[in-house]
Amino acid sequence: MGVEIRVEGLRKSFGRQVIWEDVSFTVPAGQISALLGPSGTGKSVFLKNLIGLLRPDRGHVWVDGQDVPELRERRLYEMRRRFGVLFQDGALFGSMSVFDNVAFPLREHTRLSESKVRAKTLEKMEMVGLSGAEDKFPGEISGGMRKRAGLARALVLDPEIILADEPDSGLDPVRTSYLSQLFVDINHETGATILIVTHDIGTARVLPDNMGLLFRRGLVAFGPREMILTSRDPAVNQFFNARREGPIGMAEEKDLADQSLETYHDPAPAPIPPQIMPSDGRPRRNQTPPGTWLRAHGLQPPPGSFIDAEGRNWQQDWPRLTA
Ligand SMILES: Nc1ncnc2c1ncn2[C@@H]1O[C@H](COP(=O)(O)OP(=O)(O)OP(=O)(O)O)[C@@H](O)[C@H]1O
Ligand SMILES: [Mg+2]
Repeated sequence: MGVEIRVEGLRKSFGRQVIWEDVSFTVPAGQISALLGPSGTGKSVFLKNLIGLLRPDRGHVWVDGQDVPELRERRLYEMRRRFGVLFQDGALFGSMSVFDNVAFPLREHTRLSESKVRAKTLEKMEMVGLSGAEDKFPGEISGGMRKRAGLARALVLDPEIILADEPDSGLDPVRTSYLSQLFVDINHETGATILIVTHDIGTARVLPDNMGLLFRRGLVAFGPREMILTSRDPAVNQFFNARREGPIGMAEEKDLADQSLETYHDPAPAPIPPQIMPSDGRPRRNQTPPGTWLRAHGLQPPPGSFIDAEGRNWQQDWPRLTA
């Protein structure tokens, strides 16, 4: 399972406002990727273009030989079934209980018996820590719970592709790390292709296999985690190290081109943390020992990289830690 998404020359505008253009990259099959960017750069619009909820001005979104923007009605409906999508606002139906919201895709897209629907729905609700909230209505639960209900709904069809728009916003730190672990385990078990939009730099540094940055109407970078975390591109470096100094300002619309070049000091990249591993202790899908990408490109990891909170050095002790 797991299918790649190949984006080619995508451009989207609303009226005269160009959101982004020339976006081209591949979300690798069966891997976890993260998309970051300042608020308003069009991350949510991007996800909606991937599933055909919004149509790009031009460009392609290839999934399994089909170009999503070209699909109509029935074909698009079938394509969407392969995606599990968590929208930024949860997008729950306010007049349905949480249970019915989570069960909705099963009732809409499968002919499972009601008892099977029930079992699957309860399983996913438990996965996201919502057991007991079945009969509540979206208006009666917290924002974080609505997010998790939206996630349970996105997972209920065991999709090949999972798109999650800020799954961690509105969650406390314990829930956030639990959620990251959940994505790693789902990817490990099912091989689903996962694309997550997040603002949480802590999550972005340890969860994905690949990451990208949307900034100034384009995708400024997308690539393997080790490449992005050691990037010398000012915007990438600033964003993934959560530095105040750099081309990205509070008002993302303001043109900081000059300022960034004058004041930018090219700080050394921070140490790369080890990735989150599957709960069963085995390596992630497609995982190579820490530092592999850097070594292949003749680079050294920043000092202190790949050492976890317990002091284990994942690069040095890789075979032992994953045995
Ligand atoms: N349906 C729409 N019609 C017109 N403009 C839109 C529409 N949807 C989004 N926009 C505009 O597109 C831009 C990007 O919006 P988007 O929601 O994708 O940003 P974002 O990167 O997800 O931001 P955030 O991090 O705050 O969620 C914004 O300027 C927004 O106003
Ligand atoms: Mg958004």
